[in-house]
Amino acid sequence: MSNSLLVKSAERNANIREAAEMLRSGALVAFPTETVYGVGALVTDDDAVQSIYTTKGRPADNPLIVHVADHAMAERYGNFNYMAHKLADAFFPSALTLVVPAREGAVSQHVLAGGDTIALRAPNHPPALALINELEEGIAAPSANRSGRISPTQAGHVMSEFAADPGNLAMILDGGATTIGLESTVVECCEKGVRILRTGSVQPHEIAAFVPVLDEVDESHIAKSPGLSGAHYAPKAELRMDATETSLGEALLAFGSEVPKAFAMTLNLSAAGDLDEAAAHLYAYLRLLDATHDKIAVMSIPERDIGVAINDRLRRAAMKA
Ligand code: TXA
Ligand code: MG
Repeated sequence: MSNSLLVKSAERNANIREAAEMLRSGALVAFPTETVYGVGALVTDDDAVQSIYTTKGRPADNPLIVHVADHAMAERYGNFNYMAHKLADAFFPSALTLVVPAREGAVSQHVLAGGDTIALRAPNHPPALALINELEEGIAAPSANRSGRISPTQAGHVMSEFAADPGNLAMILDGGATTIGLESTVVECCEKGVRILRTGSVQPHEIAAFVPVLDEVDESHIAKSPGLSGAHYAPKAELRMDATETSLGEALLAFGSEVPKAFAMTLNLSAAGDLDEAAAHLYAYLRLLDATHDKIAVMSIPERDIGVAINDRLRRAAMKA
């Protein structure tokens, strides 16, 4: 176990090499992607992958996403059917995660958390890809927050999650603020099409241009993806959606140009009403308001494009565990 936590720029090759060395030696490294920061382990290292769960306080039944450099590396760990090949060709690297049958014995059993499928993603982020290429193996990495909490979109967020108790986390690669700001779209590749398990920036209609998108997720599928059930992304503050006004002491997370008067702090996700900008600001603003207020009111966000994923995360943030 390490107790000092290094923060280094993700832009320098020497730091990427050092991070890869730390991963090889069994430590955890937090790194930026285009979605959120991940806390990663070498995918074949049983003890290191296990330490992700203890470091985050993550339930043992919640499997991890494996980050790969490309389609070819993904096939080392998963068995790709026609649907998976089509989507990997079209979307790697990007914020799309594919769930496929795991290749027997290819990764630490802790990655799969007792299941027989594996989630694979190639991040569209040069330092993240450089780290994976330097390692020449996949990196198992959930979001770099304590389990159930708000995902980190800046290195400082990762620091504030783990500084007091870093567990096996040895290093944070700082790549600045992430550009998308919400976790990847997760799809399960089935025989006749794919099922969307988690919404994100990659939209169903974009996926449907390549493969059939099957119906809504039902309960049996949610059971396979425990991170999708119940409260998640939770601030400590009480959160209320679709607010049109605020009460005394309530902070306001606004959207658009027409904002009601607030009695406490207001942060606007996008004054221009731009959903991509709102997604990029969401977690940082929630963190700021959560640190200073007991109650947060959120204005309504249009249920289209990445707004669907923003609303999904807000609904979970509003649930109490
Ligand atoms: O954008 C992202 O996906 C970020 C960055 C770091 O890549 N990662 C991320 O990981 O959000 P995490 O662990 O916080 O969320 C992964 C989600 C969870 O809901 C988990 O249950 C689901 O993916 N998942 C992982 N493996 C799975 C599998 N084999 N089958 C179904 N769901 C799976
Ligand atoms: Mg997470």
